[in-house]
Amino acid sequence: MFKKDFPYFSNNESVYLDNAATTQKPQIVIDAMNEYYTNYCANTHRSSYGNSNKATSMYEDTRKVLKEFINAKSINEIIFTKGLTEGINFVASSYAKKFETIIISSLEHHSNIVPWHMQGRVLGKDLEVVKYKENLDFDYEDFERILKNNKNAFVSITHISNAFGKIHDIKRITTLAHKYNAIVLIDAAQSLAHGKIDVQDINCDFFLMSAHKTFGPTGLGAIYIKESLLKSISPYQTGGATIQEVSFEKTKLLDSPFLFEAGTQNISAVIAFAKSLEYINDIGYENIEKIEKELYVYLHNELKQIPDIILYNNETDAIGSKSFNIKGIIHDDIGILLDKMKINVRVGHHCAQPIMKELEIKGTIRVSLSFYNDKEDINKFISALKRAIFMLRS
Ligand code: ALA
Repeated sequence: MFKKDFPYFSNNESVYLDNAATTQKPQIVIDAMNEYYTNYCANTHRSSYGNSNKATSMYEDTRKVLKEFINAKSINEIIFTKGLTEGINFVASSYAKKFETIIISSLEHHSNIVPWHMQGRVLGKDLEVVKYKENLDFDYEDFERILKNNKNAFVSITHISNAFGKIHDIKRITTLAHKYNAIVLIDAAQSLAHGKIDVQDINCDFFLMSAHKTFGPTGLGAIYIKESLLKSISPYQTGGATIQEVSFEKTKLLDSPFLFEAGTQNISAVIAFAKSLEYINDIGYENIEKIEKELYVYLHNELKQIPDIILYNNETDAIGSKSFNIKGIIHDDIGILLDKMKINVRVGHHCAQPIMKELEIKGTIRVSLSFYNDKEDINKFISALKRAIFMLRS
């Protein structure tokens, strides 16, 4: 029903079930990028002629759209980056560095693990990992124990696991962290594609987003930083467009968001990102959430019926990604056969090797859904999976 809005589906016969890796882009997003390059390509925030002013105003409009979209208090709280990974690296190296302890969850993507290791942080010393319980549930008792023992902590936690689709209750996590005066960053790479976000209600301090996982262009991320923290954060890179005044003696930087957006930005992507958010608004999160929950439960129930299947979490508190293995079969072999049958899924560790090691596996087969998928996609996948298993067992 929604696939008609995405040209990818007219040009590809394969069943696309790799939405956690990247989502497809609706025509209006592609058109917005093309229009910028075709009709009014100019740099922003610098020159003062017509197309430059237009580009600046379209760019700044996206900031306003995103501010409304996540219910931030002010447009100054919205900063564009070249991706979510850059966002974490920025916060890690410029602000979070001074914290004695970093607390992460067991389900983190490498992008929320490696930057902390690069700071020389050591597990159990100045890096703590919250345990998980059965069904990959977040262990709140363990979290509170860590918070109690670490008075100067920065919590950096994923909202939705890219590998397993597990949803963390980020409002509860933030409330508990604040009780112990910790600062909270939410890795929301998988969030905006699946459900409504209200940063003021969550009350987190940093909220990091990805455009390309939200039906927008690649090479673009955004960070929400709570207004009260803005003055205490230094940029991790500086240059053109970040300054109020420069002499050979000194530099006076602008205020947020401009001091954080050094150099020429990914202008076309920022402009087009507004279109993907407007597209989501047109469909409505109530519809997206309803469709996706139904598809997720359907997929879970279909998978459960496959002999020798190993599932890692059930269908509650989960959305988008579903990971599994088949006893006695290597996940890569299934991936190769599914590809031959035109089913696009990701197999492997999904940039989450630590949790794979905890589960004593090398990787999984991951199906990741979006609202434009339908039961027919799942049926095609299930029948291809059955064929692959049959071939590998024969
Ligand atoms: N983080 C992306 C994924 O989960 C690339 O596949």
